[in-house]
Amino acid sequence: MKPTRLGLLGCGTVGGGVIQLLRANAEYLAQTVGAPLEVARVLVRDPAKERVPELDRALVTTDPEAVLGDASIDVFVEVMGGVDPARGYVERAMRAGRSVVTANKMLLALHGPALLDLAVEKGVDLAFEGSVGGGIPVIRVLRDALASDWVIRLEGIVNGTCNYMLTRMREAGLGFDEAVREAQAKGYAEADPGLDVDGHDAAHKLVVLAILAFGARVDAARVPTEGIRAVAPIDHRFAERFGFTIKHLAIGRDHGDAIELRVHPALVPRDTPLANVNGVLNAIALEGRALGPCLLSGRGAGDMPTAVSVVADVLDVARARRSGFAGTATRAIQMQKRPLLPLGDARARYYLHFLVHDRPGVLARLAGALGDAGVSIEQMVQEGGGGSSGVPVDIVLLTHEARERDLTRALDVIAHSGVAAAPPRLIRIQE
Ligand code: NAP
Ligand code: HSE
Repeated sequence: MKPTRLGLLGCGTVGGGVIQLLRANAEYLAQTVGAPLEVARVLVRDPAKERVPELDRALVTTDPEAVLGDASIDVFVEVMGGVDPARGYVERAMRAGRSVVTANKMLLALHGPALLDLAVEKGVDLAFEGSVGGGIPVIRVLRDALASDWVIRLEGIVNGTCNYMLTRMREAGLGFDEAVREAQAKGYAEADPGLDVDGHDAAHKLVVLAILAFGARVDAARVPTEGIRAVAPIDHRFAERFGFTIKHLAIGRDHGDAIELRVHPALVPRDTPLANVNGVLNAIALEGRALGPCLLSGRGAGDMPTAVSVVADVLDVARARRSGFAGTATRAIQMQKRPLLPLGDARARYYLHFLVHDRPGVLARLAGALGDAGVSIEQMVQEGGGGSSGVPVDIVLLTHEARERDLTRALDVIAHSGVAAAPPRLIRIQE
């Protein structure tokens, strides 16, 4: 039986997992496709680097032409990451009539709609299950299982590195740098971990999810994005005291006339499912108009979980190609430009941290600025100070629901009022 030949673009954490999975399950995979899956060539940067032992070193090349120019290759698997040269390679493969499997959310967030258009034009598939949620089959659920419904909201813990770091910082008291080093050592972080900790990776994933959940072509640069650098140890402590856990969330809402997309740390009530998704686990909570709530959870990063998604895509596109249905699944993805709700119009409850000089009238100034902006305080705690006037103290306020624009106006007034010993910190509460 003629094998389906695969060209691997990249063989790092994910690519190594793909090689291992293809080898471990070779017989079963061949049965489900109706032909063996054969790795034809593997493109890397550094030929001398140590790789998984299952990889046949004779297949490794640093010459892109040796892979992209190999007419015997049926399916390309892009697991190299980044935009350049990955974008050009993916385009070239599709122009040559080959389906592509990718786990590259950055590429998809920045150029996904154009690449999907190209795939449709060429009658090939562009499959990307590994790009969001590692081993969680969220792309298939949105594209296929919920095809008959309309998603109206989603909340996701979609960055394994941030979730792992927040968990370790909260539970083991690790510092930021130590936590990021651990996430890197476990293969969760991007080649540039700034993409994880500054929220960009989660924003890229949210844009990919928005394509499927809301049928939206979104300019990724316009998604309000915050990472986890500003979350301080004291915030974990206060969050716990108020009955919350801090999570890094990607949030989407369909408001009909506009969609709301944002990525930031959030206080999540401790007794809700997302608050209990820890370590590298990811979870995506969806709400379908007809379906109601649905929660998907699993390992969101790392070699083998991601390889499970990538190889599942390989099976799909290989089967589609063999049965003459290449491109059918990709054609089903419908997208249109949809306006984004400005962050200032979003509404939430807020956790506010102030480091202020402990002097008479300080509380009144905080409450006054918030009140003037129409923001109502729900709870307040003050810690430290020891009774001496002027010593910095921590004050944490929880607000009732407010409009973000009003809240930032109040914080601006407070920051310039002379009462604050440090810039106020805001964390949204997600209920
Ligand atoms: P990685 O460990 O850094 O591996 C990247 C691979 O691509 C390496 O083999 C590298 O070669 C090769 N490569 C990079 N640039 C190249 C170039 N210009 N020419 C030739 N080869 C090049 O990255 P990864 O963690 O496997 O991630 C791969 C992709 O999957 C990324 O898009 C990432 O966002 C995505 N992803 C990762 C995870 C995860 O948990 N790691 C999960 C889901 C999705 P060398 O080995 O020679 O350096
Ligand atoms: N760096 C990513 C994360 C890999 O930590 O979630 C999975 O996409």
